[in-house]
Amino acid sequence: MTRDSSTPPLVGRKALVTGGSRRLGRAIALCLGSAGASVAVHYRSDRDGAEETVALLEESRESNWGAVASLCDGDLTDEVACERLIEVTHESLGGIDILINNAAIFERTPLDAMTVADFDLHMAANARSVYALSLHAGRVMRAGDGGAIVNIADVAGHSPWPGYVPYSASKAAVINLTKGFAKALAPTVRANCIAPGAMLPPAGGADDQGEKAVAASLLKRWGSAEDIAHAALFLVRAEYLTGVVLNVDGGRSLV
Ligand SMILES: NC(=O)c1ccc[n+]([C@@H]2O[C@H](COP(=O)([O-])OP(=O)(O)OC[C@H]3O[C@@H](n4cnc5c(N)ncnc54)[C@H](OP(=O)(O)O)[C@@H]3O)[C@@H](O)[C@H]2O)c1
Repeated sequence: MTRDSSTPPLVGRKALVTGGSRRLGRAIALCLGSAGASVAVHYRSDRDGAEETVALLEESRESNWGAVASLCDGDLTDEVACERLIEVTHESLGGIDILINNAAIFERTPLDAMTVADFDLHMAANARSVYALSLHAGRVMRAGDGGAIVNIADVAGHSPWPGYVPYSASKAAVINLTKGFAKALAPTVRANCIAPGAMLPPAGGADDQGEKAVAASLLKRWGSAEDIAHAALFLVRAEYLTGVVLNVDGGRSLV
């Protein structure tokens, strides 16, 4: 394929987006797709949502530049499922050079109800999955032409919330894992991280924590899924950035 200034920047690139069935994950998948990447949309339980993301990817391409969209599943608390997910993506797209670790759980855990199991679950779903996927995808990328990993953390990974201690700890681990893999996979693979602030209220409606974060931000409003998608695209394309944590939080972390 001949490239010219009208060729989208990610043509020929192959991306896996975890948790791509809705909200931030869907917005990231669509943004990478509109930049020309082939995208594997991962889901755990929401197959309908993931199929809709794939359909939107296919619709949004006027001429698809050879890009494809595919569907893949797996519970990322399961180590074997993480390894299989990278293999399946590799087979369905013919490679993998972009990994977006977006999937996560976000459970409120007030002190009176908090358990050790809450910690284990958040670490397995939000952090150990990032470790396992980065390890397996990173090896594939290093054996090929390199690649880019973008992890979706949270500003709570810098400054924990009392009602979400296990979640906050898991996101602190994601920030640290980003830096660890940036070092371990250099120079062929870059790893960067986004720390979103209040982007979208939880599915059950805004909670106190989200409203407090908005009130405490400099910009005094919720962000959007597209803000995160654009930041992810920027990090995928930023060839001289690795090990960076980009706060997309309306200035919350400065206050
Ligand atoms: N929304 C915000 O304002 C905000 C703020 C800060 C950080 N973030 C971070 O941004 C990311 C996306 O947020 P969101 O609000 O869009 O999330 P969301 O709507 O809660 O969706 C989470 C996704 O993760 C998947 N998932 C959860 N547990 C999984 C597991 N064990 N295995 C595989 N997949 C699993 C879900 O898949 P299924 O539905 O298919 O089961 C779902 O697609 C998360 O990392 C979150 O922590 C979000």
